[in-house]
Amino acid sequence: MTVNRQIRLAQRPVGLPGPECWQLTEEPVVQPDEGGVLMQTLAISLDPAMRGWMNEGKSYIPPVEIGAVMRAGGIGRVIASKNPAFPEGCLVTGGPGVQDYCLVPADQIKRSGLARIDPRLGSVSQWLNVLGMPGMTGYFGLMDVGQPQAGETLVVSGAAGAVGQTVGQLAKIKGCRVVGIAGGAAKCEWVVKELGFDACIDYKTGSVRDGLKQHCPDGIDIYFDNVGGEILDTVLTRIKRKARIVICGAISQYNNTTAVQGPKNYLSLLVNRARMEGIVVFDYAPRYGEAIAEMAGYLREGRMKSKEDVVRGSVDDFPATLLKLFNGENFGKLVLQLAD
Ligand SMILES: NC(=O)c1ccc[n+]([C@@H]2O[C@H](COP(=O)([O-])OP(=O)(O)OC[C@H]3O[C@@H](n4cnc5c(N)ncnc54)[C@H](OP(=O)(O)O)[C@@H]3O)[C@@H](O)[C@H]2O)c1
Repeated sequence: MTVNRQIRLAQRPVGLPGPECWQLTEEPVVQPDEGGVLMQTLAISLDPAMRGWMNEGKSYIPPVEIGAVMRAGGIGRVIASKNPAFPEGCLVTGGPGVQDYCLVPADQIKRSGLARIDPRLGSVSQWLNVLGMPGMTGYFGLMDVGQPQAGETLVVSGAAGAVGQTVGQLAKIKGCRVVGIAGGAAKCEWVVKELGFDACIDYKTGSVRDGLKQHCPDGIDIYFDNVGGEILDTVLTRIKRKARIVICGAISQYNNTTAVQGPKNYLSLLVNRARMEGIVVFDYAPRYGEAIAEMAGYLREGRMKSKEDVVRGSVDDFPATLLKLFNGENFGKLVLQLAD
């Protein structure tokens, strides 16, 4: 009997999610019914959004229920199939959850977003990064909401992370001047030297205000916000007329035990006739194909790089690995690889 090891949500966190939030369970692996598919999880995507899914309350997606297998995107291999669209051996992207095996019954296939991936376009971890959900977020957030024009100045926070690296590189390809904001010298050096950003401000050791004055002397046309909080407020003081602020995430606020800090300087939007707009990547699912084709082309031509921080381990490593996102230990897209 093959055993499926799973990480379930045991309780809702207050602040950072500690070990008390998780429970390890084991179940026998079940074979698929007509039209269904059984996949082995190869790699799990660890995302800041997971922290939000652990909270009770209304959001763009229902919370993970107490006792349920923790929700996670990932890549798997189909190991048993009663569905000709997903033959045994093919690689798929979907939401396996934090578990070794995932059974997708026939009636869940469409809802689960299960889709085959083409390994010729990128590695498994790249399919969780530039070609996956973070890449789609960066692409549609920038192109649809940011609407970059050649010659404009774009600032992106979380610059060395999964979404940030795509946004900055894509904005360079579209002809923008790009300034990143990231934590630590190594990350700042990497986005400038390896990814070709024009500058990067280390918010952990320097002043974001001074950095923006130095690197964006004429102001900011687009701010792609991954972090919220103080950094968003500071950027608001430097935006240009008709600036676009893409609200993608606010990781600085996700583990707050007090109320979320909203922007104090929002009247800058009025003065500058600017706008701030949120983006939820899943809204763009019908258009992922066009973004994947474009980004795979950039990867092939060497115009775009894709950096992942791959932790090899088992589902037991999930709780501790997730925390790397919130202390900035991850360098690139954080992936937990369970199998080859
Ligand atoms: N709206 C959507 O559909 C959507 C989809 C995907 C992701 N997102 C959001 O996009 C953002 C980036 O996600 P990602 O997957 O690309 O993660 P990531 O950037 O790869 O990893 C998270 C990074 O956030 C930074 N960080 C952590 N705490 C911080 C703080 N207090 N202040 C400033 N920076 C902090 C750290 O980088 P440093 O070392 O630089 O501090 C850390 O490495 C998140 O807010 C996420 O929720 C939104």
